Amino acid sequence: MTKILISLFAMGTLALSIHAYDQNDRQKDMQVMEASMSQIQKGILYNNKKIALQGIDNLKAASQNVEISPKAEMDYAPAFAKSQNKNILTYADKIKVAIEAGKKHNAADNYKKVLNQCISCHNKIRKWNK
Ligand code: HEC
Repeated sequence: MTKILISLFAMGTLALSIHAYDQNDRQKDMQVMEASMSQIQKGILYNNKKIALQGIDNLKAASQNVEISPKAEMDYAPAFAKSQNKNILTYADKIKVAIEAGKKHNAADNYKKVLNQCISCHNKIRKWNK
């Protein structure tokens, strides 16, 4: 009996800890990515590596969730979201290499490539295309 109660309790806690990624979470991560992009631009313009590198870290952390896109809810396929996330991470790393080498034009080129990943996905959001 005790064993059953304990396992029921464990299952209950497990169920509580599994929180579905919802629209609120998505908007929050998107806002973090937007703020991170501004931070990266600021770092480039103020010639401040620390700010830019911090922005890149923040962008990478938030973009991990971009690929969570239940097909039924979203206007794009999970495979598309996954590749967008992969590209964001790749170009973010390239910005990092450029910043560390003091190459601001190269950083800006890769910054634009990240921005284009954002836009490609946003262009698929039907409610935004009216
Ligand atoms: C794979 C798809 C996808 C990618 C890539 C993507 N977004 Fe989004 N973004 C969304 C969706 C979906 C919404 C709409 C969220 C909602 O309102 O439900 C959104 C909304 C937003 C919003 C508005 C949030 C709000 O509070 O209304 C911002 C800002 C944003 N994205 C920034 C970014 C930035 C910056 C990037 C790139 C670094 C990016 N997004 C990449 C799918 C994407």
